[in-house]
Amino acid sequence: MNYSKMSVSDADVKGKKVLLRCDFNVPQNKETGEITSDKRIVAAIPTIRYLLENGAAVIACSHLGKPKGEWKSKLTLAPVAKRLSELLGQEVIFAQDIIGEDAKTKAEALKCGEIMLLENLRFDIREEKNGADFAKALADMAELYVSDAFGTVHRAHASTAGVAAYLPAYAGMLVEKELSVMGKALENPARPFVAVLGGAKVSDKIGVINNLLDKADTVIIGGGMAYTFVKAMGYEIGNSLLEADKLDYALDMIKKAEEKGVKLLLPVDTAVGSEFKADCESKVVDIREMPEGWMGLDIGPATVELFSDAIRNAGTVVWNGPMGVFEFEAFAVGTKAMAKALADSGAVSIVGGGDSAAAVEKLGFADRMTHISTGGGASLEFLEGLELPGVACLLNK
Ligand code: 3PG
Repeated sequence: MNYSKMSVSDADVKGKKVLLRCDFNVPQNKETGEITSDKRIVAAIPTIRYLLENGAAVIACSHLGKPKGEWKSKLTLAPVAKRLSELLGQEVIFAQDIIGEDAKTKAEALKCGEIMLLENLRFDIREEKNGADFAKALADMAELYVSDAFGTVHRAHASTAGVAAYLPAYAGMLVEKELSVMGKALENPARPFVAVLGGAKVSDKIGVINNLLDKADTVIIGGGMAYTFVKAMGYEIGNSLLEADKLDYALDMIKKAEEKGVKLLLPVDTAVGSEFKADCESKVVDIREMPEGWMGLDIGPATVELFSDAIRNAGTVVWNGPMGVFEFEAFAVGTKAMAKALADSGAVSIVGGGDSAAAVEKLGFADRMTHISTGGGASLEFLEGLELPGVACLLNK
């Protein structure tokens, strides 16, 4: 995968109409539609400002939710246009459609220094199907394409990949930063390179574990998926999460680590709970002695020490997935300790999106990380080493 892409700062944007793909897929209150976090809108501001200040007219576009080609009023991007306008301190012209009369007329009339936002791209089924006619109609409104929607670069949709067949395609500043920080970690990391992988399911992380065993010096496995590894090693795990069909895979990964000389660290103790509840009875046990009827919900203190030690001495740490059920205060200890170890280390610290990013933010360590990815699925696929359609389509440097 080539991470070295032409950036918006390499393009001559003056006097040009720029189609800007953003990831405005923001969380909303289900009843009121109110935006509950504007982080993704804030993240798009630097590229938007750069374009406006350098004389471009910006036609922004995004998806919101999964309307699957249906026009759903609850998923209109109108509230995003309003919030974006407040953040920019200027009007954001809102089109009532995507490639229809309203959008075309407003795009035609758009002047340099002005910005408009199209309606939710996924109101048209051709967006997700990467329909050529839809992509071309989007492209026809502009002269340049800029992708700043890192969260959607793993999707081969009309607005994330298809449009690049019709317009010169550049990376926005957000995509550029994601590519340079995470690309460097995968290709030329400061060593030792430690990968900390957690989360509930082995099946979500199969490609990531496999790819990182080729790149990292140490791979740490915690979270719910660790219990499948523990079981594969022949120990009982009580009522803990188990993916029985992944036991062979776990053994393969343990073998691969041995063959490659990669240190694979698994929990040595664990906090077990009597049931899956925030206030259940709990105790810490040796990983080889998990009692029947109990379930592992967090890593234990000896594991925290073991994992923190590896992080302390690392040159680069990539972290994806919490160490336990961090939504329950009693079982957030391991995740909190990893966040603190990462924040205190001198390592280049990269937090994959989704749950681990949410955990780092919730626990108050966000500003002490080198980089927190804005992509959930996208950053996972990045760490798997997969070709991302929304990156592959951009012009190479
Ligand atoms: C995300 O929220 O991860 C991105 O916006 C992608 O959304 P999607 O999973 O609906 O494609």
